[in-house]
Amino acid sequence: KAAGFAAEATAFQRPVLLPEDLHQILDLGINLVHVSHPSDVVLLEDMARSRGCCLRISLRVANESPRLSLLGFMSRRLGLSPGDALAAARSVVSSSHLRLTGINFYVGTQQRSPAGFARAFRSAMALAARIYAELGTPVEEVNLGGGIPSTSLYRATPLDLVFGRQPRGIPDVATARLEAFCRSLSELFVQAARRAGLATRPGLAAEPGRSVAGNAGVLITRVRAIKGNWAFLDASRNYLAESPLLLKRKVVCAARPMERTTRTYHLSGATLNTTDVMDFRRRLPPLEVGDALALADAGAYSLARASRYAGLAPAAYLVGRDGVIRIIRPAETVRELGGARIPV
Ligand SMILES: Cc1ncc(COP(=O)(O)O)c(C=O)c1O
Repeated sequence: KAAGFAAEATAFQRPVLLPEDLHQILDLGINLVHVSHPSDVVLLEDMARSRGCCLRISLRVANESPRLSLLGFMSRRLGLSPGDALAAARSVVSSSHLRLTGINFYVGTQQRSPAGFARAFRSAMALAARIYAELGTPVEEVNLGGGIPSTSLYRATPLDLVFGRQPRGIPDVATARLEAFCRSLSELFVQAARRAGLATRPGLAAEPGRSVAGNAGVLITRVRAIKGNWAFLDASRNYLAESPLLLKRKVVCAARPMERTTRTYHLSGATLNTTDVMDFRRRLPPLEVGDALALADAGAYSLARASRYAGLAPAAYLVGRDGVIRIIRPAETVRELGGARIPV
């Protein structure tokens, strides 16, 4: 609400729905809820009945794609099977307090190509067709969740890890690529609707995360020490929390020509802790202590996920359209860290 999103354009999604959370979101005027378990429908029906309101329901279907990557595996952990989704649709349609609005899924973050959504589109459309055939209710919306990639991030494959392969040049930020990606997505979506024989095509909705916020942030850090192939930075993974084994970002040395990447470095955070390794085997120009490095794609899942295990939150700056850099959040201080404690 504070960020300016209208309650009616917001969907509530949690792996486990709890009455206390639902009361809060209903009080805020949010009335679209994603259902990922058959028992959710019973709870929502009871809630809507007791409050005398009508709730819109979107069915979260499980991701069926048999991808070998760890991220693909993780993205299959939540959602209804096709059989459970149809049963849930029956219960929703038979309730006078619930309205079936959509089908949603999540194929996993940072998809490499629009084709990664094709199977999920086909399954969603097949389900929509069955719901229409059996219950006479058209599905208004298919929500693909996230997964539209940030164009400054590379998703590593298991083979990259096994053979220590490096991404061949992470593409530069290019809006045109993102537009092309989304155009292909909409073509795949239309094809899937046509194949399923749907008379009325549902709308396509998305909840983009990385593709919107990833490129918006850059982490600036300095080299504090160099020991062999290791460069130790004054940044830490506590505010760029993603695993370098899964996702790779562009690293640029501000003061040195990036055409001369003659050295390979492992980048470590300030603690040297195992989980504080920020990257492996980066080709960079020869570095010196004091060099500034820019780590791209620090806008998504960074400060919002930051922990304090390896240091305090850094200052955040905004580069204005006028080129002026303004501080928008001061760095956290030790005093603030201690201040939150209750004296005993
Ligand atoms: C349901 C849902 N929608 C959207 C997103 C945003 O995903 P991404 O940053 O990959 O676009 C997520 C991320 O976990 C999600 O779980």
